[in-house]
Amino acid sequence: MEKIAEKRRIVLVPIALQGHMNPMMQLGQALNLKGFAITVVVGESNLVSSSKDFPDFQFVPIQESIPVSQIQILGPVEFLKKLNRTSEASFKECIAQLLLQQGNDIACIIYDELMYFSEAAATEFKLPIVIFSTASATNQVCVRVLSKLDAKKFLIDIEDPEEQDKVVGNLHPLRYKHLPTWGMGPLEQFLEICRIVVNKRTASAVIINTASCLESSSLSWLNQELGIPVFPLGPLHITAASTNSSLLEEDMSCIEWLNKQKPRSVIYVSFGSKAHIETKEVLEMAWGLSNSNQPFLWVIRPESTPGLESLPEEVSKIVSAKGYIVKWAPQNEVLGHPAVGGFWSHCGWNSTLESIVEGVPLICRPFTGEQKLNAMYIESVWSVGIQIEGKVERGVVERAVKRLLVDEEGACMRERAHVLKDKLKASVRSGGSSYNALDELANYLEKK
Ligand code: UDX
Repeated sequence: MEKIAEKRRIVLVPIALQGHMNPMMQLGQALNLKGFAITVVVGESNLVSSSKDFPDFQFVPIQESIPVSQIQILGPVEFLKKLNRTSEASFKECIAQLLLQQGNDIACIIYDELMYFSEAAATEFKLPIVIFSTASATNQVCVRVLSKLDAKKFLIDIEDPEEQDKVVGNLHPLRYKHLPTWGMGPLEQFLEICRIVVNKRTASAVIINTASCLESSSLSWLNQELGIPVFPLGPLHITAASTNSSLLEEDMSCIEWLNKQKPRSVIYVSFGSKAHIETKEVLEMAWGLSNSNQPFLWVIRPESTPGLESLPEEVSKIVSAKGYIVKWAPQNEVLGHPAVGGFWSHCGWNSTLESIVEGVPLICRPFTGEQKLNAMYIESVWSVGIQIEGKVERGVVERAVKRLLVDEEGACMRERAHVLKDKLKASVRSGGSSYNALDELANYLEKK
């Protein structure tokens, strides 16, 4: 697409959670490169951390109705309902101010699907609106299936193995037991939020951070079901490779440590920005990793292990012999480092994409929501990883690390991950499916 002579403005509405912020800022970067001006509307407390690396973007604060830290206290469903209820008025005010400042040049509002309050302002000011789903296309399918279920019947069906094993919408191997209800609080409330999120209301398109080589059947299903254009233009972190939207400070010293390790010898361990781990599990992990005799780089966010200020001395000693611990890592650099041979992950969608893009096989330990679904895809659809199920005990950890880094089985998974890596890289190159989808999106937005 030709660069647009006069820049049209896109307003982005991210939710300030790391796993959502990263792809939204990458999308902004990709659209900025296509010639659009970008405004990011974000809660006051995240303004500084989000704006420092994007000098070309305009950042506009909205009054923070409820800080994201409340998600742990209220639970995801109550938090989202409250956030949306209380943000609507301040967002309308914000858009009104933007229109006054800039004339009527907002091409479109693109909002994270969880920030559905954005729609009221779009309707009031007659602005086009597009939904951005930062998780997988298969998760979109699942949320849509869930939105049509009756909670009482589903709770009965959960007890019936035959019902649970039924395939969802001909999307083999996706079964009802994989629907991501895990850790989302009371089912009835979760289904209610699913119904709100999937209601596309006045949105004219949906953007998904995925590629057709990863999820072609789910994307076909969505194309048929939605009746509006779907743009699968990921993985966005390749398209917008220079983007850094980390809300936490990255500890770069781990790269120096990696430089001293043998090629493909290190297991990188990180469970994203939200997971909580019990002290007992951390200690079993420490023993298992050490007993595997492979070097390991381990991200332990201080708030991920409440009650564990530091590792007990005895454990600390064994850990420091083979491992390196940081509070937050430059994950993409780590995964792209030649010393890294495997990733023990919680299987958040970003981590999943980032690992495959570097051809790194995974050990999957999902915690909540769609992570279990991603883990199922990693293990059973793409065959680039193994799952740790049940209790995390040192013997299980040691075995999983050896399977991935030492055994022939791991080498085969790495080979398959490399094939997928090549496909993903091709999809964002000129003529590739995600490259074309981004082009089509830019053309579509230009006409809005
Ligand atoms: C959440 C959900 O858990 C996830 O399932 C959903 O798909 C998106 O929102 P999160 O748990 O944080 O996200 O996981 P993930 O999606 O993997 O995102 C984490 C991001 O933080 C990744 O982009 C990763 O590169 C980054 N990260 C993680 C770092 O930069 N450094 C780290 O040390 C760890």
